[in-house]
Amino acid sequence: MAIETTLVLVKPDGVRRALCGEIVSRFERRGYELRGARLLKVSRALAQQHYAEHKGKPFFGDLVSFITSGPVLALAVRGENAIAGVRTMMGATNPADSAPGTIRGDLATELSENIVHGSDSKASAKRELGLFFPDGLV
Ligand code: TYD
Ligand code: MG
Repeated sequence: MAIETTLVLVKPDGVRRALCGEIVSRFERRGYELRGARLLKVSRALAQQHYAEHKGKPFFGDLVSFITSGPVLALAVRGENAIAGVRTMMGATNPADSAPGTIRGDLATELSENIVHGSDSKASAKRELGLFFPDGLV
């Protein structure tokens, strides 16, 4: 077990649907600590960097358009095994497969609008926290 910090994004659909409080509350109730929070409009350059692993895939263009379509809430979430723990709380990528009780399973129906992002590994968390919290304070 290890104390980790991970990047969570409440994506534009979550902000538009006024689900930020609901999502933050789930992480807080679980016992994770908020170390950083920023509401920002993601530029195309930041979106392309953030989703670099998906460059060239058929959904990449739509993904960049979507994540830049309105403000996102970026959160630095810290706690015991937070990287995997947050992913478990998010549920499967496609809400059609997400278990009830997970964020996506409770709040989303569409793959392209699945409300939250969470870093998928230690290396991703480090890279993504650096993109969204570039002053390094988290
Ligand atoms: P991915 O990193 O595979 O999923 P996750 O968000 O669970 O880490 O994909 C990034 C986002 O891209 C995903 O949240 C939704 C979108 N996406 C599509 O629109 N179509 C697809 O076929 C896939 C795999 C993902
Ligand atoms: Mg991913």
